[in-house]
Amino acid sequence: MCGIVGYIGKKQAVPVLIEGLKRLEYRGYDSAGIAVHSNGELIVQKVAGRVSRLENLIQKEKISATLGIAHTRWATHGEPTDKNAHPHTDCKGKIAVVHNGIIENCNALREYLKQKGHKLRTQTDTEVIAHLIEEYYDGDLLRATRIALSEVKGTYGVAIISLDHPREIVCARNGSPLVLGDGGDEYFVASDAAPIVPHTRQVVYLEDGELASINDNGFTITTLEEKEIIPKIEEISWTLDQIERGGYPHFMLKEIFEQPITLKNAIRGRLNVADGTARLGGLIRHHKELEAVNRIIITACGTAWHAGLIGEYMLEEMTRVPAEVEYASEFRYRSPIVDNNTILFAISQSGETIDTLAALREAKRRGATTLGICNVVGSTIARETDGGVYIHAGLEIGVASTKAFTSQIMALALISLLMGRMRTISVEKGREIIEAIEKIPEQVAQILKLDKKIKEIASVFYKKKNFLFLGRGYNFPVALEGALKLKEISYIHAEGYPAAEMKHGPIALIDKDMPVVFIAIRDSVFEKVLSNIEEVKSRKGVVIAITTEGDKEIKSKVGYCIPIPKTIDLLTPLLTVIPLQLLAYHIAVMRGCDVDKPRNLAKSVTVE
Ligand code: AGP
Repeated sequence: MCGIVGYIGKKQAVPVLIEGLKRLEYRGYDSAGIAVHSNGELIVQKVAGRVSRLENLIQKEKISATLGIAHTRWATHGEPTDKNAHPHTDCKGKIAVVHNGIIENCNALREYLKQKGHKLRTQTDTEVIAHLIEEYYDGDLLRATRIALSEVKGTYGVAIISLDHPREIVCARNGSPLVLGDGGDEYFVASDAAPIVPHTRQVVYLEDGELASINDNGFTITTLEEKEIIPKIEEISWTLDQIERGGYPHFMLKEIFEQPITLKNAIRGRLNVADGTARLGGLIRHHKELEAVNRIIITACGTAWHAGLIGEYMLEEMTRVPAEVEYASEFRYRSPIVDNNTILFAISQSGETIDTLAALREAKRRGATTLGICNVVGSTIARETDGGVYIHAGLEIGVASTKAFTSQIMALALISLLMGRMRTISVEKGREIIEAIEKIPEQVAQILKLDKKIKEIASVFYKKKNFLFLGRGYNFPVALEGALKLKEISYIHAEGYPAAEMKHGPIALIDKDMPVVFIAIRDSVFEKVLSNIEEVKSRKGVVIAITTEGDKEIKSKVGYCIPIPKTIDLLTPLLTVIPLQLLAYHIAVMRGCDVDKPRNLAKSVTVE
C-alpha cells in the first residue's frame, strides 16, 4: 500500500507535503515523489529510497508553491526506481498523478494508449491513468478523470493536478482509502488522516466510486455517474499513533484483519475462469520449464518455510511432480542434487533473507530455474530469480508474519493450479478450485468475527508454559505455523507435530497443564485426527480444536472449539491458520509481550 498527500491553500506546499509523506512512511517507503504547481510550471521531483532523500533533493531547489500532491510508494508493478516512483505524468508533462492500488487491466490500457500514440515511459500500472486523462482531456480535468477512471478495472486512490488548473486537485477512490481535510482556508487529501491531523481534524472520507474536485473554496464530491454527494464532515478523535495502526492496538492485529483484502489482492486479475487455470504474469516466460520440470525444490526460512510445506503438498497433488521443501540454511551447505530440469521456488516476504538468497544462488549455480514468491517488489531475491509471483500483501510491519503467510499460500495455490492444468487437472476441476479460491477472502472475514471467542479461550490458557499443536495433511504445516506464532511473540514453549507422530514421543508430555491445539476440520483425515484427540484426552490432556462449522460430534468431545467454514482440502490452511494467529496474538498481549517487536527477533534476517 502506498501513501498519498495533497495540499491547496496559502502555506508553502512543499513542507506540508513532505511532512505528510513522513507520516505515511509506515505504509511503504521504497520511493517517493512530489508534483507542485509553481509560478506557471508543473514541477515533478521523485526518487527511489526514503522520503528524506526526496526532502534533501527538493531543499536545494527552493520551490515556491501553494498547491501540490506527493506520494510514498510500496511497489506492486515495476521496481522501486527513480523512474517508477510517483507522480507519473502524461506525454506532455501537463498532468501529474499519484496512485495507491492495483490497475488490473493496465496491459490492455497500455495497448490502447499506444495505438492512440501515447508514449509510456515506465513499467508501472499507474502511468496509464495519466495518459488516459490526457486522452480524454478537453479543458475539464474532473470530467477527463471521470471518463478515464470509468475504463479502469482494479483498485485506486488517486490524486491529480494539471498545469492548466493551477488551483484544483482532483481525486478519486475505488478500493484504496482517501480522506479529505477541511482546514477552513486550506484543504487536504491523503491516504489516511495521519498527514491531515496536524492541520485539521475536520475530515470527509471518500467512498468507493466517488471523485472530488478541491479548490480554494473547498471541495465538491460526485460519483463516477456524476451524482452529487453531500460531504459528511467528521471530527477525528484518534491520536497519530492510532491512525498509523488503523485504530488497532498493534500492527500485527491490523495485519491479521487485513487478510480478506490482501488475499483479494493476491488473487486479483489472476483467475482465468474460462480455462480453469491461473494467469501469472511473472511466470509467462517460463511455461516451458513449468511443463518440462521433473523435480521441484522449495526453499525458505521460518513462516515462509511452513508455506513451502503446504506448497509441496499442493504441487504434488496437482502436478504429480516430486516436490520437496528444504530449509534454506541447510540446502546451501549440503551439495544438493539439482539439474536443469529442476525448478527451485524461493519464498521470502522480505526478499532479503540471507539464507534463502544463498540457497537460491546455489541452485542457480547448479542449473536450476529459480522462481521467487516475494512480497517486496524489487527485493534482492525477486531480482535474482529468473521469474516469480509477487504476493501483493502490502508492507508487513509486525515481526510475526501473518498476512504474508496466507498470501504466500494463495500464490502457491495459483501456481499449483497453473501447473496442474498443464498436466492432469481438467478444466472442470480447475473451475471448481477457482470457485473455492474466490470464496476464501469472505470466509476469512467470517472467521475474524470469532476474535472475541478466541480471546476468551486465550484468557484461559495464557499462563501455560507449554503448548502442543497437532495437524495432519495440509494442516500439519499449519500446526507448525501455529506453534511458531505462539512461541515467537508470547515466549511460551510450543511445538508443532504431525498428529499421528505424537504417539512416537510427544505424548509423554501430555498432562492437564499442556494444552493441545488440534486442527480437526472435516477433511480427508478427520477420523484419524479424532482418534488422536481421544488419545490426548485419555491422558487428561486439554484440547482446543479448530473445527468445521456445524460439526456436533467433535463439539461433544472437546472443551474448546473454534468452528470455521468448509473449503476444499487444498485451501484449508488459508482458513485454519487464522484462529491460530489470533490465539497467539491474544495470549502474547495478555502476557504483556511486545507483540510487534518480540525480543531477539528481526523482521528480516539478513545475517547467517
Ligand atoms: C515469521 O513470523 C518469522 N518472523 C520469521 O520466521 C520469517 O518468516 C523468516 O525470517 C523468513 O522471512 P522472509 O519471509 O522475509 O524470508
